[in-house]
Amino acid sequence: MTDQVKSRQRVQDHGEVFTNEREVNAMLDMVKQETERIESRFLEPACGDGNFLAEVLRRKLAIVNARYRRSLSEYEKYTFIAVGSIYGVELLYDNAVTCRERLFSIVEGDYLRVCRKNSTPGFLDAIRYVLERNILNGNALSLKQVDESCADTEEPIIFSEWSIVTGDKVKRRDFRLDEMLEGSADQVQFALFGSSGTPTSEWEFDDETGAMIPKPIWEYPMMSFYEVQNNE
Ligand SMILES: C[S@@+](CC[C@H](N)C(=O)[O-])C[C@H]1O[C@@H](n2cnc3c(N)ncnc32)[C@H](O)[C@@H]1O
Repeated sequence: MTDQVKSRQRVQDHGEVFTNEREVNAMLDMVKQETERIESRFLEPACGDGNFLAEVLRRKLAIVNARYRRSLSEYEKYTFIAVGSIYGVELLYDNAVTCRERLFSIVEGDYLRVCRKNSTPGFLDAIRYVLERNILNGNALSLKQVDESCADTEEPIIFSEWSIVTGDKVKRRDFRLDEMLEGSADQVQFALFGSSGTPTSEWEFDDETGAMIPKPIWEYPMMSFYEVQNNE
């Protein structure tokens, strides 16, 4: 049995075979420019324990480190943006937890080297909170959150968008993943069939992405990114 497989049972039940590092890098190199763009969004719908997401984060943080390590506040802001743009869904609870922990350790290791014991209160707590919101234990087929036995709950998968507006101020908007996916299907239909393909969900034009997106289910007041964890 290799590190890519935890047990035959898990392979049979959930198709759990992890991708090795060489393949992860080869695949990410196909979108190299995006992996090195700090704010570019990645969503992995069956992220396992985070082989792809960890490498995306490492690549983004290498850029953050090269550009901003001389200013701790800038370093923190761009690290927040890098983490806030990485999303994952994973069916198995232990994998989802490991994935979050793994991403957190990568940030923490880099951060403690850069801040040299002068860490800003709240920063690592905020990172941990964002990872809890962004890496979800869910079913990427039903688009529901699951319980620890992998059964669907009534709760839809809801992701938060984290947009830095100015200085350390961040705007959080929550979206249902099913609506976002339905929105993109509608958008394709609309593009192909014109007005006969009128979208079913309410959409709005998003300046940041330059695309039509569904309305958020919740918008939070602007807050400092050091304090996002205090919001609930
Ligand atoms: C082939 S593994 C790949 C894991 C990881 N992406 C990697 O490349 O190392 C597939 C993963 O999908 C998860 N999975 C299976 N069905 C799923 C579903 N319906 N929704 C979300 N995750 C699922 C499994 O638990 C497993 O971790």
